[in-house]
Amino acid sequence: MAKEIKTIGVLTSGGDAPGMNAAIRAVVRTAIARGIKVKGIKKGYMGLLNEEIIDMEARNVSDIIQRGGTILGTARCLEFKTKEGQMKGAEICKKHGIDGIVVIGGDGSYRGAQALSRLGINTIGIPGTIDLDIACTEYTIGFDTAVNTAMQAIDRVKDTSSSHERCSIIEVMGRDAGYIALWCGIANGAEDILIPEKYDFNEQNIINNIIESRKKGKTHHLIINAEGIGHSTSMARRIEAATGIETRATILGYMQRGGNPTAKDRYYASIMGAYAVDIMLTGKTNRVVGYQHGEFVDFDIEEALQMKKSVNEYEYEVAQLMTV
Ligand code: ADP
Ligand code: F6P
Repeated sequence: MAKEIKTIGVLTSGGDAPGMNAAIRAVVRTAIARGIKVKGIKKGYMGLLNEEIIDMEARNVSDIIQRGGTILGTARCLEFKTKEGQMKGAEICKKHGIDGIVVIGGDGSYRGAQALSRLGINTIGIPGTIDLDIACTEYTIGFDTAVNTAMQAIDRVKDTSSSHERCSIIEVMGRDAGYIALWCGIANGAEDILIPEKYDFNEQNIINNIIESRKKGKTHHLIINAEGIGHSTSMARRIEAATGIETRATILGYMQRGGNPTAKDRYYASIMGAYAVDIMLTGKTNRVVGYQHGEFVDFDIEEALQMKKSVNEYEYEVAQLMTV
């Protein structure tokens, strides 16, 4: 028989992402509407181990849907990767009467959720990362906001780059994944897009492209470089030396992770938060929520972690076609 859920916890873990607050709000309000108590766990698994646990009422999540970041705070916690840390976490849940936890984060955070589930605490994960690199879902909380923020910043750099007839290398976030770079590459009309999934580290190709695009009469040359490739500043120096064209690097950095979430991030995060609570109340545990083919779905965490995802070949090809 499924365990009766009377009180749930909610935490955010790993890198923050705009829209996490909308998800927290939805978890709190759905649970309350269903007659369940909610506790907020601050600073991810670290806050759980330090017992930074607060009661959450409907009014505690007023006026947060439009705010970036996470009101609960987030952290990376090495101790939670150990068996002892996980057992301590499960004991603390039991001490506070927490029957289940909604974990908003990425793949690493789901590993922690999986450990808690094995120790008798029901867990449901929600995908929260600006990188879009969670395989079981076409949508992750924060990507839409981050890519729009980056796109707007790049538009501005492009204006000045064109005026000065410069080449610009703009580095966007994405340590292991090139989704932000690919989307900006297409949305900003970049001449080159360097992503970890595809880049062959042949800088001579980029240099040839720049020379070719000058011959075609282009006044700028925009290169979107993913953080996973990095080295934008030294790349700019080498390109300028090889082409004789002034080249500047701009690293957008953490500004991409903050700011007010877009309507899409508020909406999807709200549905995912509610969905996570509702499936937990049906007795499910060790699941992660996803969005696929127009529907909200859920998977076993192990199954989700085994899935693979990469950039779409056709979309990448279209990005190249746009540079003629
Ligand atoms: P993300 O959730 O965005 O992938 P991390 O990989 O940094 O971010 O993971 C966030 C946190 O989840 C870690 O700091 C740690 O507390 C917990 N975590 C990560 N991997 C594991 C693991 N293998 N077992 C238990 N907890 C983990
Ligand atoms: O996962 C989101 C992300 O912003 C990555 O794109 C980036 O590499 C990483 O987080 C940076 O993390 P930190 O906050 O630890 O510097």
